[in-house]
Amino acid sequence: MTDGAGAGDPSPAILSDVAPAKVNLGLAVTGTRPDGYHTLVSIFLRLDLADTLSVVAGVPGGADTLRIDGDPDCPVEGNLVLRAVEALRTALLDGASLPALAFSLHKRIPLGGGMAGGSTDAATALRLALGAWGRDAEPRSLSRVASGLGADVPFFVASHPAALVTGVGEGIDPLPALRTRVGVLLVTPSHGMATPAVFRAFDRLLPPASGAAEATRSLAERWRAGLAGADLAVESAALRDANDLWRAVAVLEPRMARLRAVLESTLGRPVLLTGSGSTLVALYPSPDAARAAAHRIVPGEDPELAGIRVTATSDGHHQDEEPPP
Ligand code: C5P
Repeated sequence: MTDGAGAGDPSPAILSDVAPAKVNLGLAVTGTRPDGYHTLVSIFLRLDLADTLSVVAGVPGGADTLRIDGDPDCPVEGNLVLRAVEALRTALLDGASLPALAFSLHKRIPLGGGMAGGSTDAATALRLALGAWGRDAEPRSLSRVASGLGADVPFFVASHPAALVTGVGEGIDPLPALRTRVGVLLVTPSHGMATPAVFRAFDRLLPPASGAAEATRSLAERWRAGLAGADLAVESAALRDANDLWRAVAVLEPRMARLRAVLESTLGRPVLLTGSGSTLVALYPSPDAARAAAHRIVPGEDPELAGIRVTATSDGHHQDEEPPP
């Protein structure tokens, strides 16, 4: 998306783009690397829920800047948008002499929610920075920059509707778009989960005896053969117990298990954990069904529902359809 300057208009062009969230469908932890990172097998599904990032190029030699609205808790300092541009400047030979970039970020993806909000902003920042500078990056160099920024960034740089993700996040095996949209109901508690703490707790617990890797790979096989949204919703029961980080999350934050129990009884369907939490996910055969289900969650009805944020969204594939409000 571009708001170009009109003819004779001296104001610089604004480039803007969405930064979509993801959910994990299955997450198996298969090993630990010497640097402490964990190898995973997971399906990442891109969502319509998205932040929006805009950029205007200034003059060479100035400082890159970032303005954020939509979430007062989202910090500018250390933000992955600025770190992404810094890393890109370092990777490009003449990076330091390229124009300063002024970014505006509108946050909609909850922080600490397991939906990779920071990582997707970073990937979109890389794309917009290259656009604003009129540059292309060599794919290998771009993936190195992406991996250096965070484990989830390569998925968003690759820009697939879904992928089987392996390694610590750099193995991206694209999956086709779903044939019809799946409805995704997101329930985000007021507290986030810190990913490093969840992985540390995972390391302290006994290794899971789960079949999460098999369940995730077998879903990827069926996905490649063609899946509709309704087919994916049917997988909810198998996916519920296919996130190896669940036990660590429940040990660190007992409120998560109580919230899941309340949601499963209110919604009458299995509730999944995305990533290291804290967002809980229910899948529906259509976006309309997810929106209808959202109305069944009444925050005042149970103390466990206090402060939650409920979002009905869908997979982000069918660009020809109107996105949900
Ligand atoms: O790479 P990212 O900054 O998203 O990861 C946050 C933290 O989560 C890492 O510092 C690491 O402790 C943990 N992590 C991990 N294995 C992964 C992804 C993340 O151990 N594959």
